[in-house]
Amino acid sequence: MLIEFKVNGKSYQIDVCPSMRLIDLLRDELGLTGTKEGCGEGECGSCTVIMDEKAVNSCLVLAPQVDGKEIITVEGLAEDGQLDSLQQKFLEHSAVECGFCTPGMLMSAKALLMKNPHPTDEEIRTAIAGNLCRCAGYAKIVAAIKAAADSTDQ
Ligand code: FES
Ligand code: FES
Repeated sequence: MLIEFKVNGKSYQIDVCPSMRLIDLLRDELGLTGTKEGCGEGECGSCTVIMDEKAVNSCLVLAPQVDGKEIITVEGLAEDGQLDSLQQKFLEHSAVECGFCTPGMLMSAKALLMKNPHPTDEEIRTAIAGNLCRCAGYAKIVAAIKAAADSTDQ
C-alpha cells in the first residue's frame, strides 16, 4: 500500500507492506538508525518516536497507521548542527552511558516538553516510565530533563 507521511519535516510517499512496523520503516527504508529496537514488544521504550506530538513505541505502530502523520525521530532534534537543549543537558548531566535507551528517552522527554514546558519531577518520571535504562540511572536522566526545561522554552 502507498502511504504518505512526514519525518523530521521531510515528506515521503512509500509503497509498503501493511504489516511493516514503523521502526522498520524508519531504520530500513529511510536509514534513520538512531531509533533503537530493544524488546520489539512495547516494553522497553528504546524505539520511542513522536507521532503527531505524542510519544509512541515505533515497534507497535504499523505502516497504515503512519499514513498522513508527522513523525519526529532523534535525528530531528538537532537543528543546523546545534544540539537540542535536551541532548545538551543529557551530556552535561552524564545521563548517557551505553546510550541505547537515549534516543527513546529523549523523544519521550521531548513529547513531554512540547505539551508541558515546565514539568515537575513527578511529571518527568511519569513521562519516561515506559523507557527502561540499564545503566545511567534515572536520577541523572530526570535531572537532565528538568535542566532542559529550565534552560529554554521548548
Ligand atoms: S523496542 Fe519498542 S518498546 Fe521495546
Ligand atoms: S544509558 Fe545504557 S541503557 Fe540507558
